[in-house]
Amino acid sequence: MASMTSLCSVVVAPQPPSSSASLRHTFKIPAKWVRSPPSTTYFGATSPKACYSRPTTHAVDHNWNRRGLMFTATLPFLLPLYDSLESVAVKAAESGNSEYKLLKDELRKVVPKGRAAGVLRLVFHDAGTFEANDNSGGMNGSIIYELERFENTGLKGPLKILEKAKSGVEAIQPVSWADLIAVAGAEAVSLCGGPTIPVALGRLDSKVPDPDGKLPQETLGASALKESFRRKGLSTQELVALTGAHTLGSKGFGDPDVFDNSYFKILIQKPWKSGGMSGMIGLPSDRALAEDEECLSWIAKYAENQNLFFEDFEKAYTKLVNSGAKWKSL
Ligand code: HEM
Repeated sequence: MASMTSLCSVVVAPQPPSSSASLRHTFKIPAKWVRSPPSTTYFGATSPKACYSRPTTHAVDHNWNRRGLMFTATLPFLLPLYDSLESVAVKAAESGNSEYKLLKDELRKVVPKGRAAGVLRLVFHDAGTFEANDNSGGMNGSIIYELERFENTGLKGPLKILEKAKSGVEAIQPVSWADLIAVAGAEAVSLCGGPTIPVALGRLDSKVPDPDGKLPQETLGASALKESFRRKGLSTQELVALTGAHTLGSKGFGDPDVFDNSYFKILIQKPWKSGGMSGMIGLPSDRALAEDEECLSWIAKYAENQNLFFEDFEKAYTKLVNSGAKWKSL
């Protein structure tokens, strides 16, 4: 087995973490590209997957240092148990660490059910810029520089809410936008009755916006939607499962604040074909999925079996929030 350090290239940046006040400032002013915004992070680790390496003597944050040592010590015993570094990352988050609890607690204070849909949409708009070919974009908090883009209309509100949670967390310790948004989406899902999704922590924030035009448009047909998701490393089944997020919000798929399989139950009936008010249900992209044979077979499975939807949504969500992420070393 290759050593963990050889799998990861770790760069220790000279700057200590910046204050939460300056971070708040960054988001309030711009919603545009700021060339050198302050960052909560001070390690630069580059890897498409979670990247753990022995903490160096340069580490500035004692929490990370201690946790890193503990993790490094147990890593050889843990490794055979998991399929990949990614699952190790998830297990690390699950192990009840206090940082994870702090994030959840602060998020619960500021995200009511009525705002859950917007918060979940924020996740897709941050992570969905991922391009597997060149490993660009992804879950990196760059959404804070991209709010003026047409496709991100309506996302300032949800981000403003999360900013409050960020301040709460940062009164105690730094947190990246990428981690906060990833956990917020998972909390939004569970708050509305969906599955509980453990989210790994340690993503670094990007300091620049992601390339434009990477999110699929609502006017795309099924083949183009599949292709768009394929470029993000996501299968047709994952496309269908993730789009089940549209069960939240007001596009006509059941209670806007309840995360269940109504999206699929309604989609399979193709209500837009019956005209009248039903003609308003769903986005063109939702309807396109229901017209595609391969997608329709997944829609039928999820309409039939909510547990299967929850299981598959959890897996696909985990993949989404890890896509393109650069991880801080423990
Ligand atoms: C298949 C590609 C997708 C397209 C074309 C798409 C497009 C859209 C559009 C146009 C809206 C309406 C926004 C508005 O009300 O102004 C929307 C809402 C929403 N999207 Fe998507 N989306 C897609 C996939 C996803 C995924 C993968 C997620 C999350 C995992 C997601 C989460 C949401 C949520 C929760 C809402 C409701 C937001 C609210 O009511 O505030 N979407 N989407």
